[in-house]
Amino acid sequence: MLGARGGWRALRRCASLPRAVRLRVREALGAREPAEAVRVQGWVRSVRSQKEVLFLHINDGSSLESLQVVADPSLEKRDLTYGSAVEVQGKLVKSPHKMQNMELQAETIHVVGPCDIWSFPLKMKERHPLEYVRQFPHLRCRNNTLGALLRIRSEATASIHSFFQDNGYVHIHTPIITSNDCEGAGELFQIETSREAKESVEKSHFFNVPAFLTVSGQLHLEVMAGAFTHVFTFGPTFRAENSQSRRHLAEFYMVEAELSFTESLQDIMQVMEDLFKTVTSTVLSKCPRDVELFHKYVAPAQKTKDRLEQILKHKFMIISYSEAVEILKQAPQTFTFKPEWGCDLQTEHEKYLVKHCGEVPVFVVNYPYDLKPFYMRDNEDGPQHTVAAVDLLVPGVGELCGGSLREERLPFLESRLQRLGLTDAYQWYLDLRKFGSVPHGGFGMGFERYLQYILGVDNIKDVIPFPRFSHSCLL
Ligand code: 4AD
Ligand code: MG
Repeated sequence: MLGARGGWRALRRCASLPRAVRLRVREALGAREPAEAVRVQGWVRSVRSQKEVLFLHINDGSSLESLQVVADPSLEKRDLTYGSAVEVQGKLVKSPHKMQNMELQAETIHVVGPCDIWSFPLKMKERHPLEYVRQFPHLRCRNNTLGALLRIRSEATASIHSFFQDNGYVHIHTPIITSNDCEGAGELFQIETSREAKESVEKSHFFNVPAFLTVSGQLHLEVMAGAFTHVFTFGPTFRAENSQSRRHLAEFYMVEAELSFTESLQDIMQVMEDLFKTVTSTVLSKCPRDVELFHKYVAPAQKTKDRLEQILKHKFMIISYSEAVEILKQAPQTFTFKPEWGCDLQTEHEKYLVKHCGEVPVFVVNYPYDLKPFYMRDNEDGPQHTVAAVDLLVPGVGELCGGSLREERLPFLESRLQRLGLTDAYQWYLDLRKFGSVPHGGFGMGFERYLQYILGVDNIKDVIPFPRFSHSCLL
């Protein structure tokens, strides 16, 4: 509700303005025809006052480009500064400048919210490094680079949903609070109520059982894959991992898909590859300027644009884990972790492998049985030798996707769970293999790692909207 004074002020403002069409900056810049009465709202990105004319640039987050406003110097006011929020009304006309299509000839300029430029940490016309803006998680969305990133994130999110919806997948909201730990997918955050946290002795759990923030929606998707042949989820995922790393977050978004009646790992890999290529092509075509900003100014040395264009044209490479170990063993360099069959691939190994393959995405398939969780399908290529697992490795980032065929055969699963002492905890999972079990498989892709890769961003904290722990962002 507006107070009496606020109401009068608003009325007066409306009364003084003829009815004007409200346009976003993006719409105004892309308009084909001039328009008589237009209203644009946004934040001032630059002010340049000349004797005869006042120039402003207004940005409202709808595009990287700002709209040039040309005004009579008499419209200049003390609080019309860089960073202030304004509403400008006037005529949209063809711009005489080659660099822009349209500009706004202002008739009125209303400063909606002034900005104290002396204490505002973002400065006009300065190209602030990402490390600098990371210090201001609450203000950095006003910076061009972060603005571009957030539009790309939004477009990529929409494209991921479209990709799955267009291919007949049903979107499932898998739980965020869960009692399953997806067996070793990552370190867990356990949750408790504030009252439980205060009680030092014997705790009674709110849910009667220990509860965690989800590390993966996979097991829940597998439940749904017992009724829908194609399902996906795309939501927040939590892992209590080393937050100082450039490729790990405590909270990140994961896209996960599960496909029933699928007997081959190739089918899963095909979906991963199609997802990557479709979403990347969409982002490149829908946000060309935003992506260009990253490729040209944030990571110019990496030639990400050229590399992406090549990658989109070719099939991703596939090697087996055993081949990968052989390649590593024959490498002319020494690794901190000696490559041995049966050991996990470390970051240094992943980096070498993608370099060896020509700095392109590489699928590594068929990992040792003992390295992987119980739900992965035994390849039966020897006594418990390898499982049908796949990781997609990409240059600069390492593991982008992880997936597998799931063990759908009850006896195999039962004996594995028994050996691990997990039979009781996973009775419900065994049930899925008793009532209409089908071969199935799926994968998960880290959304932030995806963005890091396509944009060439070094630190994963620069592709999230809010760097949560600002003290550890200053890497
Ligand atoms: O390889 P992960 O652990 O796979 C799973 O959780 C499976 N249950 C998914 C499935 O089959 N449905 O995680 C999948 C991807 C990784 O490849 C990586 O890209 C990303 O999630 N990821 C992280 N991204 C940012 N920060 C972290 N701490 C991450 N941990 C994993
Ligand atoms: Mg993995």
